[in-house]
Amino acid sequence: GSSDINLRAFVDEHHFLFVTFTAQGHINPFLQFAKRLIGMGVHVTLATSVYMHRCMNKTTPITGLTFATFSDGFDDGFKPKGDANPKYEEYMSELKRRGSEYLAHLISSAKEEGRSPFTCVVHTPLLEWAAEVARGLHLPTAMLWVQPATLFDILYYYFKDDKYIKNKLMNQKENPSGLIELPGLPPLSTRELPSFLVSPPEAYSFILPGLEEQFKWLLQQPNSKSVVLVNTFQELEPQALPPLDCNDIDMIAIGPLFLSAGKDPSDKASPREEYIEWLDSKAESSVIYVSFGSMCVLSKRQMGEIARGLLGSGRPFLWVVREREGQGEEEDELREYRKELVEKGKIVGWCKQVEVLSHSSVGCFVTHCGWNSSVESLASGVPMVGFPQWADQNTNGKLIEDVWKIGVRVRVNNERVLESEEIRRCLDVVMGSGEKGEELRRNAKEWRELAVKAVNQGGSSDINLRAFLDEVGARTS
Ligand code: UDX
Repeated sequence: GSSDINLRAFVDEHHFLFVTFTAQGHINPFLQFAKRLIGMGVHVTLATSVYMHRCMNKTTPITGLTFATFSDGFDDGFKPKGDANPKYEEYMSELKRRGSEYLAHLISSAKEEGRSPFTCVVHTPLLEWAAEVARGLHLPTAMLWVQPATLFDILYYYFKDDKYIKNKLMNQKENPSGLIELPGLPPLSTRELPSFLVSPPEAYSFILPGLEEQFKWLLQQPNSKSVVLVNTFQELEPQALPPLDCNDIDMIAIGPLFLSAGKDPSDKASPREEYIEWLDSKAESSVIYVSFGSMCVLSKRQMGEIARGLLGSGRPFLWVVREREGQGEEEDELREYRKELVEKGKIVGWCKQVEVLSHSSVGCFVTHCGWNSSVESLASGVPMVGFPQWADQNTNGKLIEDVWKIGVRVRVNNERVLESEEIRRCLDVVMGSGEKGEELRRNAKEWRELAVKAVNQGGSSDINLRAFLDEVGARTS
C-alpha cells in the first residue's frame, strides 16, 4: 500500500549504528537485527572491537553491513586469568574510555568523511556509555535486550526494591521452598532466578553492579522514555512487556530476530554442509540435536554421562562438541566413546544451528536453554530437553517447561550431574509416543506458527518494528 512506499522512502535515509562486543549469544541477535533492517532498506554500521570483528568474520558475512572497528586494548581477546591479569572491571572501564572517544568521533565526523549521518544508536546491555555519547550528540538510542522480557522484569524488580527479591533470598536460606512472586510473572523458586542474583560467579562479579548501573540509567532519562528492544514477541510474554508497574521504559518486542532476518543471498551460494546431508538421510523428527551454546564448559564426567545417555537412547543424534581452546588431544573427554558415537550419531565442532533446528529430521533439542537457543527452538517447532547451567538459563528453562509447555527440564543428582538414565528418560518423554510427548510437540508447532505470524507483515513484531522506525524518523527529521 501507499504507507509502505512512504516507509521505504524514509528508511532509506536511516543509518543505524549498532554497538556490541561480548559473547556470541549477544552478537547473533545483533547480526540478525542488522539483516532485518538492511532488508528493509536501512543502512547499518556495526561498531565493535578489533578482536570481536575478527570473530564475527568467521561467520557468514551479511551483505550490506558496514563494520567500524576500534581497539579496546585487547586485540587478541580479553581473558581474565588469575591475579596478574587485568580484571573485567578494568576491561570495562578501558572499553568505556576508548569506545566513547571512538564513537564520538565516528558520529560527528560522518559529514566531513562523506558518510551518511547516523540516525539512531542501538547498544548491548552494560554499554550505557554508548547511549550517553549518542544522546550528547542528539541521537535517539535504544538498548537491544538479548534475553527474554521476563528476565528484564526480574532484574527491574530486583533493583527497584529489596522487598521483591533480595529480602526474600535472605529468608530463603531457612525456607528454601519459598517462591518469589513478581507482578505479571510466574512464581519462581530460587533456582529459577537468574543465577547471578543468587550466586554470582567470581569472574563475572562485574555483571550485577554493571546491570544495576544500566537499569538506573534507563530509568533516569529526563524528558523521554528509554527504549528497550527485545528479542521476543508479544504473544510469548504478554505480561512482561514492560514490567507491570513501570512507566519509564518502552519495551518493544521485535523478535524472534533470527526468523525475521531471513536468508542472506550469500547463504544460498555456500555448499550444503555434511551434517545437513546426514540429517537428510534420517526419518522425520527422529534426530536428537544436542548443543550447549557458545560458552558452557561441561565436566569430563558430564560429557561421559551425555555420551552414554545418547548411545542408550537408540536414536540418531547430532552433537555439537566445541573444541576447547588450548586443550590437547589426551584431554578429549569423549575418547573412550568416540568410535561408537560416530557410528550411531554425528559429532561436529560447530554447526549452523538455525538451519539444523529447522530441518524436518530434528525431533528434539537437548539444550542449556540460552535465550537464542530457546527462541530458535521454539520458533522452529522443536520441543526441548533443558539442562540449564547459569545466567538466565534457569529462568528460561522454567518458561519452557511450565509456561510455554514445550519441553522438560532434567533432574540432576546430588552432585549436580545429569546422569545418562535421566537423559534417556527425558528423551523418551519428549520424543516417545506418550501423551506428554504429544502435547509438547503439539505446543511446539503452535508456538512456531505464532512466532512466524509475529514477524510476518502485519504481525505484532513487524508492526512494532515499523512503529519504532517511524518514531526514530520523526525524531531525526
Ligand atoms: C549467552 C548466555 O549463555 C545465554 O544464557 C544468554 O541467553 C545469551 O548469551 P550462549 O550460551 O552462547 O549465550 O547461548 P545461546 O543464547 O543459545 O546462543 C548461542 C548461539 O550460537 C545461538 O544463536 C546458536 O544458534 C548459535 N550456535 C550454537 C550455532 O550457530 N552453532 C552451534 O553449533 C552452537
